[in-house]
Amino acid sequence: MADTELARNSSLTVKSGIAYQKCLNPLCGAMLDIGQVRTACDRCGDLLDVDYDWSRIPVPSRLSDFEQMWSKRYEPLRFSGVWRFHELLPFAPADKVVSVGEGQTLLQQADCVGNYVGLNSGRLHLQYEGMNPSGSFKDNGMCAAFSHARLTGAKRAACASTGNTSASLAMYCSVTQMMKAIIFIGSGKISYGKLSQALEYGALTVQIAGDFDDAMIRVREVSKDLGIYLVNSINPFRLEGQKTVMFRVLEALRWEVPDWIVVPGGNLGNSSAFGKAFIELKQLGLIDRVPRLAVINAAGADTLYQLYERRNLRWNEGRPDFATVCHYYDELDARKAKADTIASAIEINRPVNLKKCLRALDFCDGVVRKVTDQEILDAKAQVGAGGIGCEPASAASVAGAKLLREEGIIAPSDRVVCVLTGHQLKDPTATVAYHSTDMDKFNEVLGSRGVSRASFANRAVAVPNELDAIIRAIQLYS
Ligand code: F0G
Repeated sequence: MADTELARNSSLTVKSGIAYQKCLNPLCGAMLDIGQVRTACDRCGDLLDVDYDWSRIPVPSRLSDFEQMWSKRYEPLRFSGVWRFHELLPFAPADKVVSVGEGQTLLQQADCVGNYVGLNSGRLHLQYEGMNPSGSFKDNGMCAAFSHARLTGAKRAACASTGNTSASLAMYCSVTQMMKAIIFIGSGKISYGKLSQALEYGALTVQIAGDFDDAMIRVREVSKDLGIYLVNSINPFRLEGQKTVMFRVLEALRWEVPDWIVVPGGNLGNSSAFGKAFIELKQLGLIDRVPRLAVINAAGADTLYQLYERRNLRWNEGRPDFATVCHYYDELDARKAKADTIASAIEINRPVNLKKCLRALDFCDGVVRKVTDQEILDAKAQVGAGGIGCEPASAASVAGAKLLREEGIIAPSDRVVCVLTGHQLKDPTATVAYHSTDMDKFNEVLGSRGVSRASFANRAVAVPNELDAIIRAIQLYS
């Protein structure tokens, strides 16, 4: 989208000094200019946040005022489901932000799935992020990081990825032709749907002999050495864009705050961004209550669950006990433990946004749960049967909501929003195996993951190529 067009159509300009980067460590508190490219504090190595001097920003006094932006959707800036909330992430001037039409998403009320979860009618909503241009929620954050990269004059941008980040980055690079994408993936760790996107969009694809956690370490080293702009969610600008997922949820609920937000947890960018969104909305007086947050790990990649629920790691006013974290990682190393789940998007053992997620859990009275691959695939089949469908990692949110309902932590009358992070077609291998009539195929893909049954399978009916037999089969099964 042409930047001149964006500039012409927007009245919002960003004055210098209203946005800055700030170290998350309260004992350090280092501040950085918005134009600096860092993924960690120079002084203490902690994560960075984007922060604002809200007193100098023309934020609407009520959230419902944002509806006027939507009515101006002929303006490219307001058409974007991210940038129509520009006043709530005003780090870049309107004429510099990049949009490819991200964030046109749907909050679907899903009674069939709600029934499966154990909720009363009308209480479950699915925030479907698969409608983004690259098919996952990543575009929300990527347009923000990409806009910052562009502000800083970057010519190359890199990420490590379990697939969706790389697809999103590759898409922004190819649509805008502004940068070259360099993506790092683990070997055999990325679904074909996502890999096919990155390859076709022309990204330089570097396959590391290792997993996502290995690729993440390498991409940080390489980006630093070669001065390449890093767009993983360790980049604080990514999270600014991802805040808007929550703004759109509130918008779809006519600005009523739900009781629960349930989200899969991988690198913990989403949960961190959602927490920051609610912290800021509360600070600005735009909401008067905050939803509870549930972050759902896959059982085969459950670092957050282990640290938060089992070892009691807490935000502790910005000073979590990092000895607990180091100790846990040492244990993983000693066991040579690698993340392992059918939900490949969240197959991550060392989440880079751990600390920010702790802040979100603290602010939103959060809980963390883990769900098995069996629970994920059953929930995914229910999501698909109830409508639009999702990829395996996304279904962790629904499986987690069901578990929390069974535990009595979520009440049947609670209003629950499960975030469906990625499109159903991103990762069809597990779906086809789950519904397969061929038990060898089922076992080959799912057996090693402890998935032993497909309770909600919709199996194809094999018939001879004969009219009578076909008619008999249809009458029998329909
Ligand atoms: N769901 C999907 C579909 C994802 O692709 C990811 C992360 C997550 C959930 C986890 O989100 O990291 O914010 O906790 N995918 C990353 C990637 C890691 O490289 O595409 P998170």
